[in-house]
Amino acid sequence: MAIVVAFPIPTAIEAELSKHGEVRVWREEGPMPKATLLEWLEGARGLLTTLTNPVDLDVLEAAPLLKVISTVSVGVDHIDVEAAASRGITVGHTPGVLTDSTADLALGLMLAVRRRIAEGHELVSGGAWGSEWKTNFMLGQDLSHATVGLIGLGPIAQAVASRLKAFSGVRILGWNRTPKELPDIEMMPLDALIADSDIVSLHVALTDDTAGLMSRSRLAAMHDGATLINTARGRLVDELALSEELASGRLSAGLDVYSEEPLPSNHPLIGVPNAVLVPHLGSATKRTRRAMFELAIRNLIAGIKERDLPAELVLRSS
Ligand code: DGY
Repeated sequence: MAIVVAFPIPTAIEAELSKHGEVRVWREEGPMPKATLLEWLEGARGLLTTLTNPVDLDVLEAAPLLKVISTVSVGVDHIDVEAAASRGITVGHTPGVLTDSTADLALGLMLAVRRRIAEGHELVSGGAWGSEWKTNFMLGQDLSHATVGLIGLGPIAQAVASRLKAFSGVRILGWNRTPKELPDIEMMPLDALIADSDIVSLHVALTDDTAGLMSRSRLAAMHDGATLINTARGRLVDELALSEELASGRLSAGLDVYSEEPLPSNHPLIGVPNAVLVPHLGSATKRTRRAMFELAIRNLIAGIKERDLPAELVLRSS
């Protein structure tokens, strides 16, 4: 019985996993080549992976004995989950343990953009702070007293909302695929929320239904001076249209995620003004990564033993 691990892991974890079968670990930096993954999966019962390794039909077909795919992520858009389910393969992921870290980063991006923190840092550290304190110098916008629209109201959005309540006078709007009643969040139709918000923050999973949700026309419907925050997935947003809005200075943005990662050097968002861009750091804290890793290993071991997973993906009915 073999277990494939598609990324380097500490030797102690490898030793633990080897109690459950022969462990094949991809030890190189960077994503595992698909051909190697297909070859290694032959005869494998478990796959431990991350979002950098797509698990598509080819991969599933190369793994007739696979019982479980365990991903070190809450997002599962890199896995063909319907095809896995139809083959009786369970999918484990890591919800819950990264909620606080991701919500913290969303708040950090709101402040960094609206209060021009990243821009101010570049000015000072680049030795270009040429003028004395002036009444009209680098004026930003408050997070306090802003209207913030949350698109998707899962645990991360709710954690963002609870943090926002600590800021004076914030009005929180919310939209969710299935309506929810949550304290201090005004439910709104999606397009009304986009038009009314000073800050629009994305918290939906990437699916066929949500890809391109922040389309060119929805970005155009955001009001002048509004800010888009994305800690969910890049493909939710029309990035070319967004880069044009940022270049014109009409909108600002704080982005953690992109349709292509790492962002290629010729991507329209590279060098664009009015944006704070960070490299997919939502869950990147020591505590959170440790918790994600532990949960993913527990999912993997339960899956190869054909037991209930501690965090099994529940497929949404369409
Ligand atoms: C996830 O878990 O899906 C996150 O994007 C990783 O940071």
